[in-house]
Amino acid sequence: MIQAGFSFVFVSGLCVLHAMAAEVPATIRIEGDAQGFLMPKTLHGIFFEEINRAGDGGIYAEMLANRSFEDQADKMVEWSLWGTPAKLDKSFPLHANNPTSVKLAEKGGLVNKGFKGAGIPMREGATYKVSFWARCEAQAEVVLKLESSDGKRLAETRVTCNGNAWKRYDAEMSPSASATNGQLAVWSAETLWLDQLSLMPKETWRGLPFRKDLAEMLAALKPGHVRFPGGCYIEGETMAFAHRWKDTIGPLEQRPTQPERWGYHSTGGFGVHEFLLWCEALGAEPLYVLNCGMSHNENVPLEKMGPFVQDALDFMEYATSPLTSHYGALRAAAGHPEPFKVNYLEIGNENGGDAYEERYALFHDALKKSYPRLILIANEWDYRVPGNRKLDVIDQHFYRPSRFFRQGSTMFDSADRSGPRIYLGEYASCHDAKAGTLRGALGDIAFLTGLERNSDLVTLAAYAPLLCHDDWSKWSPNMIHFNAQAAYGKPTYYAHQMMAAGRGEVVIPCRVEGPVETLPIAAGGISLLTSYEGGAFADVRVTMPGGKLLAEGNTIPWRIKDGLFNNDNGTLVRTGKNLRALASASIGDKAWGSDYDIVLRVKAPDRFPERSLNWRSGMRIDVLGNRFTIGLGNWGNNVHTIEGMNTSEVRKGSLNAGKWHDVKITVRGQRVCVFLDGKVATEGTQTSIPVLCSSVTRSADNKTLFLKMVNSGPDALKINLDLGKVIPAGTASGWVLTHSDPEETNTADDPARVSPKTLTWKDVQPKITRELPAWSLTVVSITLL
Ligand code: AHR
Repeated sequence: MIQAGFSFVFVSGLCVLHAMAAEVPATIRIEGDAQGFLMPKTLHGIFFEEINRAGDGGIYAEMLANRSFEDQADKMVEWSLWGTPAKLDKSFPLHANNPTSVKLAEKGGLVNKGFKGAGIPMREGATYKVSFWARCEAQAEVVLKLESSDGKRLAETRVTCNGNAWKRYDAEMSPSASATNGQLAVWSAETLWLDQLSLMPKETWRGLPFRKDLAEMLAALKPGHVRFPGGCYIEGETMAFAHRWKDTIGPLEQRPTQPERWGYHSTGGFGVHEFLLWCEALGAEPLYVLNCGMSHNENVPLEKMGPFVQDALDFMEYATSPLTSHYGALRAAAGHPEPFKVNYLEIGNENGGDAYEERYALFHDALKKSYPRLILIANEWDYRVPGNRKLDVIDQHFYRPSRFFRQGSTMFDSADRSGPRIYLGEYASCHDAKAGTLRGALGDIAFLTGLERNSDLVTLAAYAPLLCHDDWSKWSPNMIHFNAQAAYGKPTYYAHQMMAAGRGEVVIPCRVEGPVETLPIAAGGISLLTSYEGGAFADVRVTMPGGKLLAEGNTIPWRIKDGLFNNDNGTLVRTGKNLRALASASIGDKAWGSDYDIVLRVKAPDRFPERSLNWRSGMRIDVLGNRFTIGLGNWGNNVHTIEGMNTSEVRKGSLNAGKWHDVKITVRGQRVCVFLDGKVATEGTQTSIPVLCSSVTRSADNKTLFLKMVNSGPDALKINLDLGKVIPAGTASGWVLTHSDPEETNTADDPARVSPKTLTWKDVQPKITRELPAWSLTVVSITLL
């Protein structure tokens, strides 16, 4: 529901409430000539994680899947055989890190059709580089063919291999016709061993091993920093899967492939060196993320942390030391004698609790001793950051509904500036933006306007995830989708691209007054939820404010999903089954209305996991259907929260393991108050949400003003723009991203359904009125005299 009412006023750093009349157009007052402050170049960044085949099978230009035959132990995957069957062979490893090769029998052949056999696109006239390692008994001729999907030959080359020592062979091939789903065929009349076969287009992005279309799309975002390579990817489920940067340097055939968190093998081909080169080419600050001795389910004992801390020091040596150093020499051998510039390093990803605090201190002390100017980024997880060291920057992650981000546009306006700087290392409108809708994009950018206005505090930010192969989607939404043949951006890609094009350098104050959205009051029953074995709820009593009983004790006919609670005479105990799932027991419906009181007893599990992994931790109670969720002992038993509500408190607090607690909850439509053992645990009110969000910047030479305006309402919005004491040259130009349906998105078949259109404003005066379309982002640059 959109209505006139109260609107927030931003004065870059301040937040006040103001009344607004219904008929009055929205207003943006800009202090065009204000001094402002320099926006950090790092603010707008990208986070590249090896997820959804973003790297291998994605931007990394390798076109062959399972090129080194290591993807599955003792199983030939991604290759099909013809002629005399080839076999995997471990008797003559090419390298200890690359133990499996293929033994091609006489008159045997292999075919690779790219990742998941989806075909290798080939362009007529383009050149493709093919390489492989081989050894044979005496001499063998290898025939390599580029073929169409039905086996028609498009190019052929023959390579003679000699001797029984492994040697690398290279060739180039140009197909006589294009093929969208081509394949590489390899054949030999003689017995020989092959390994590390590679096919890459000769023309890649700026000479780096990157697929051009994807790399160009990312370059168009003009990232000021690149966070790499994860994400959960660097953690792994156990330490055996944890990412270690040293596995990704040196000759390709010596880099071990890694079974990774998101369900496939990474080759290490897009490794740390390629990352540093990429950042250099983009003019972006590299921000490497190191495993800190913690995985999702296992930590390295403190006394065994030495090698992990040493990895961090060695990383810095590799990237920044002269070539007289051991790792500097390796960098030079890889083709970059000059040191790279590295100013940021992140210790771990989404790691928290005491374990993280202890490990962070080890990294901090060692790194700061050798690299005192290095800016260290610490994880914030479970609403905790390490408390035993002075922090430079903390990394917060938000995956929430678009509404959260629109409200979040003011999140930092009055935040404390005396502590560490903030990195929004991963943010994305989810839930209502699942497919990557326009609605989600507007939420993302509303948030980003707030980050720009507060970029004295929030100095880095990145949307996540960045890339997704349509056949390997492990997460949704993502910014850019692709397959082997093509790529397209979701609305949020275009929205971020517009923000990059209209970035500006100096943040100047703007005051926004506009309509607000008030969510209708919800009605409905309650649900009790937990994924902790042994967590229990008992003695539930729900009454209306006048005392009328709605539900009580052992008479409640709970609706228990999938039988994950045992109901013992009104006491619901979470079973040990399917602990990744949230067990739920529900009662009541809309007839319960919006106002009621709940009393119950809650028993915490005997043991809380060290950190919350599934974003749904704590003992949870849904009220008003599932409008608001109360989380007691939420986020690693660290806080009490009300989720789904925009202005609820996140209060420090915990439950006692294995103990019963008395809980009382008062629900009054938009307001909820939660008492734990007689004391307020958390409370909150759902307030209205701004519809118009904006930020304004200026170019460093004072010649251009950049206005970024999000209208996330269903009606076109007339706005009075007051540019302040500046003189516009007369015209302005920019882009608008909009669609009549906010649930629309782009697809492979219709990749530009929601994409920006250019716009021009004529007769621009210091005070003008313009209209912002419904559901739109408008970015305008105004030339000044
Ligand atoms: O972006 C997807 C995942 O979300 C990242 O791997 C992780 O850091 C977060 O939980």
